[in-house]
Amino acid sequence: MNQSRQAPLTPPVSQGFDQPIDRSLSASQKWEKYRGRDILPMWVADTDFMAPPAIIKALHERIDHGVFGYTLAPEALTEVVVERLQRLYGWRVDPEWLVWLPGLVCGLNLACRATGEAGSAVISPKPIYPPFMSAPRLSERRLVSVPMTLEGERWVLDLDALEAAIDPSCQLLLFCNPQNPGGSVYRREELTRLLEICARHDLTLCSDEIHCDLILEPGVKHIPIASLDPQLAGRTITLMAPSKTYNIAGLACSLAIIPDKALRQRFIRTKRGIVPDVNLLGYTAALAAYRDGDGWNQQQLAYLRQNRDYLVREINAIEGLKLHPFEATYLAWIDVSGLELEHPAEFFERAGVGLSPGIDFGDNRFMRMNFGCPKATLEEAMRRIRTAVAAL
Ligand SMILES: Cc1ncc(COP(=O)(O)O)c(C=O)c1O
Repeated sequence: MNQSRQAPLTPPVSQGFDQPIDRSLSASQKWEKYRGRDILPMWVADTDFMAPPAIIKALHERIDHGVFGYTLAPEALTEVVVERLQRLYGWRVDPEWLVWLPGLVCGLNLACRATGEAGSAVISPKPIYPPFMSAPRLSERRLVSVPMTLEGERWVLDLDALEAAIDPSCQLLLFCNPQNPGGSVYRREELTRLLEICARHDLTLCSDEIHCDLILEPGVKHIPIASLDPQLAGRTITLMAPSKTYNIAGLACSLAIIPDKALRQRFIRTKRGIVPDVNLLGYTAALAAYRDGDGWNQQQLAYLRQNRDYLVREINAIEGLKLHPFEATYLAWIDVSGLELEHPAEFFERAGVGLSPGIDFGDNRFMRMNFGCPKATLEEAMRRIRTAVAAL
C-alpha cells in the first residue's frame, strides 16, 4: 500500500468517460498491484470512471453535516429500492425482505452458512467469480461445480448437467445473473427451468445479480429470478448492489432480498455480531445512485457498449485469441488457449497489460479483461497485446 505517500488527491476536471483519472495516490487495489511498473491494470472489477455527479454531491452534503454516528438504512433508500424493483421488473418487494450488507461476497458466504449444515453440498457454476468457489469451503460445505456451456454465442449454466449433479446432500445453488465471467443474461425460459429444478430438489437459490444494471446489448432485459413466481421466491436470496454500476465498491453498500421469513431470520442470525453494519457514506451513495443515477448510467452503458464492440472486433482479429460476443458487464472473457502459453497471466503482464487469470475462475484457457476504462486505455492495451502476440 502507499501509506507513505501523503500527497493530496487531485480532483479531475471533467467527468467524461474519456477523461483519464489518476488513481495512483488513492490506495486503489486495482492500481497498487502494478505500482511503478508499466502495466495497465485491467483486472479487478471496478471501473476507472468517476462516480456520477449526483453521488458526489450527496456525499459532500453528508460530509458537511459533520456527524458520523451509527446509522440505519435511510427510509428513503428502502423506498427507492422497492419502487425501482417494481418499476424495472414488476417485482413487488416488501421492505421487510431487504437485508443491508457491507458487500456481496459476504452475502454469498452468509447464504452458505444459513442453509444446510456442515458437510452439505453447495452447487456453483464453473467458471465463476472466485468467491462462489471459496464460500462453500469457508463455510465447511462441499463444493459441487457445474459447467457453463456455450449455447450459440452465450455462456450459460448447463441445466442438464446441473440436474444430474444434484444429490440429497445438495442444499444450495449459487447462481450468477448476469454471469461473471462470460457476460450472458439469462432468458425467462432458462430462469423458469432453473427455478423449477431448485423446487424439484428442494434447493435454496442464491442469485447474485450485482451486474444487473450493466446490460450492454440493446433489447436484452434483466429478470430477477425471484420475480418469476411469488411462491417459488420463498426459496431465494437475491443479492444486488449499486457498487459495480456506479463505481462505488469502496463504499461497501449492498443488499440481500429474502422473501421467506424463516430463511431471512437464519441469514440475519448468521451475520449477527460478525458482519458490521453498512457505513453511512455507503448508504448515502446508494440512495443517490438508485434515486438519481439512471440517466448517468445510460451514458455509461453507451460508452461501455462502444468499448465492448471495439474489443470483440480487435480480439477476434488476433490469431490465437477468441472473444464471443457478450451481453453484459464490463468484463471480457477471452479464450487465449490458441496461443498455447504456459503462463498466460505472465505473458500479458510482460506485454504491459494486467488481466485476471482464468484459472482463478476455474478455467486456465481464459483471461478476463476489465474494459471499464477510457477508450484510449483500451486502444493502448490492444496495441500492446497485438505487438506481444506478433512476437511469439
Ligand atoms: C458476481 C459478483 N459478485 C460479487 C462481487 C463483489 O461484491 P462485493 O464487492 O460487494 O463484495 C463481484 C465483484 O466483482 C462480482 O462480480
